[in-house]
Amino acid sequence: MAVRISKLCTLQASAAGIKETLDAVGYCVARAAASSPEGFASLTQEIWRSSLTSYMNGTSHRKQIAPGVFSVNLEPPELPVQAHSEMTYLNQFPQYIAFWAKRPADQGGVTQICDVRLLSKAISKSLKEKFKSLGVEYIRNLTDRNTHLPEHPVYKHWQDSFEAETPEEAMMKESLNCKFEWQKFGNGDHARVSFVGDGFGLHPGTGEELFLNQMWTYHGSHFDEWPTYRHLPLSQRPVHARWGDGTELEQHELEELRRIHNSSVQEVQLESGDMVILDNMCWTHGRSPYKGKREIFVSMSPLVERIGAPM
Ligand SMILES: [Fe+2]
Repeated sequence: MAVRISKLCTLQASAAGIKETLDAVGYCVARAAASSPEGFASLTQEIWRSSLTSYMNGTSHRKQIAPGVFSVNLEPPELPVQAHSEMTYLNQFPQYIAFWAKRPADQGGVTQICDVRLLSKAISKSLKEKFKSLGVEYIRNLTDRNTHLPEHPVYKHWQDSFEAETPEEAMMKESLNCKFEWQKFGNGDHARVSFVGDGFGLHPGTGEELFLNQMWTYHGSHFDEWPTYRHLPLSQRPVHARWGDGTELEQHELEELRRIHNSSVQEVQLESGDMVILDNMCWTHGRSPYKGKREIFVSMSPLVERIGAPM
C-alpha cells in the first residue's frame, strides 16, 4: 500500500534549507522550487555545491533540455517504472538526483520513492548473503546507431551511451570495468556490455551498509509486457540482471524483491514547478503508469565510486 509523503519544504525553500532536509532525511520535496529548466539547474547546483553531471554511459534515451538537465526515460507510459537507484548498474553513479515538474501527467505518473534503509533491513538473511557473496551481473544489449532507426525509442545506441564512434573508443572507458562483446548486425555492431557489481555498498558519507543494486528493476522480466521484446530470451532483451556467477535469479527471489519494494513505496505528487531531490543511495525513485503528456526533468550530481560492503 503506497503511503503519501508528508515531509515537505515550505514554499520558495532556500537551497540551504533543502540541503538541511536532504542531509537529515535523505530526500526533500520543494514546492514551487523553479520556474524553468535553467532555474532548476541553478538550484540543484547550489544545493549540492557542484556542477551537474552528464548522462554519459547511461542506458535510457534522454533528451537534453538545458545544460545538465534531461528528460526522464521514455518507457511506455502505460507501464510503471519500478523504483531504482540511478545508474547503480555501473561502478560510478550520481550521489544525488533531482526531478523537477514542468507539467505533471493528466492522470497518474506519480513519482514513487523507496527508503533504501528499510529495504536493507527487510531483505531476508539468505538473499542478503547471496547478494554479498555473488554480486550482480548487469547486461546491456545496446544497438548500433548505423543499423537501427535514427532514434531508438527507449534505449540508447552504444555510440550515444559511451559517446564514442568506434568499438575501440567505447572500450577505452576503462574506469567502467565493463566487459564488451561485439556481434555483427548488418553493417553495424551490437554491443553486449556487462558489469558485475557488489549487491550491497557503503554510503560514502555515513559509512552505512545499504542495498545497492538494480537486480529486480534491471531483470529481463521487465519486458514481459513489451510486444517488441517479450519473445526474446531474458539475456537478449535490452537489459537484464542475474547473479554475478551468471546464474539466473530464482522465481521466489524475484518475488521477494518485488514484495519488499512494493511494501515500502511512497508517493510524491509533484505539481508544476515542484522538485524532489534524493540521496541516490538512500532513496530509490520510479513512477506509476500515466496518461497524457508528462514533462518531468532530471539533473544529477557528480558521480561517486561504488564502495563494496564487506562480507
Ligand atoms: Fe532513474
